[in-house]
Amino acid sequence: MSIAILANHRASSVWKKVIQEKLPNTPVAIFNESTTALDAEFLVCWKPENEQLKAFSNLKVIQSLGAGVDHIFDGNEIADNVKVVRLIDEQLTTDMWEYTLAATMGYLKDFAKYKRQESYTYWDRRHYKTIPETTVSILGLGQIGGYVAKQFAKLGFKVQGWSNSPKKIRKVKTFAGLEQLPKLLKKTDVLINILPLTSSTKGILNHDLLSQLPKGAYLINVGRGGHLVENDLIPLIDSGQLSGATLDVFEKEPLPKNHLFWNHRKIQVTPHVASMTNVKSTVNQVVENYLRMKNGRELLNEVSPQKGY
Ligand code: GLV
Repeated sequence: MSIAILANHRASSVWKKVIQEKLPNTPVAIFNESTTALDAEFLVCWKPENEQLKAFSNLKVIQSLGAGVDHIFDGNEIADNVKVVRLIDEQLTTDMWEYTLAATMGYLKDFAKYKRQESYTYWDRRHYKTIPETTVSILGLGQIGGYVAKQFAKLGFKVQGWSNSPKKIRKVKTFAGLEQLPKLLKKTDVLINILPLTSSTKGILNHDLLSQLPKGAYLINVGRGGHLVENDLIPLIDSGQLSGATLDVFEKEPLPKNHLFWNHRKIQVTPHVASMTNVKSTVNQVVENYLRMKNGRELLNEVSPQKGY
């Protein structure tokens, strides 16, 4: 049994080193560095290119190096006998909470506007909303979204959450299914997207949905770039329907240099850093899944290929 690493844009050699330290007798090879990688049963994987997974003939398990698995299914056909697992990590979850809180507070306290005013020494005071006056709505109430919703509620925000199937979370008003979405949107000040990217959530942040928010609402996208119809966003901001957006994920990453989002004064761009996989805190989960595969045991955090999460 052996392990291969195919991690585009991630530190393959670091992963190889930490896995090898924990499993000194197991062959661990990096795709493209050694042809033996192609014989592996267990693949540690991030953003494979289209059809790249075809080259592996013995695969039993694909371990995503993130919470999302869309990058594995997108452009690759996964055989029925291959299991796909994702990372669920406390650190990833709390990092996401910290990022969404920072973006929300930046919006509430108008930091971007005052930064601009600073550049022309302009003194203009603007009314602000307090935490108890603010309704934050979270799209996606899975491991991460559910935690984020709870934390916002603990701080005293009014919190709503939406998911595919009904969920109950203390102090969070929950909605489920597309038919309930307009009710949530109607009362939202800050919309935070943490949905998984699937065929049914692709393009969900579009003109029609964002127009149902109250005028001046704010968007935070930490899900995937594919959730947002990028061309719809700037007109909605320029017309005042949205007061701005913080975007951490994009259709194409890195965000192309000539993309209009870079220079828009009401869009805060961050380079997919809301929650970055921490090798130290997640390597044990990867190794545990390899051992479970080897011993024919149930895997940790297996996803449903039908649902895509
Ligand atoms: C990051 O985007 C992840 O899926 O963990």
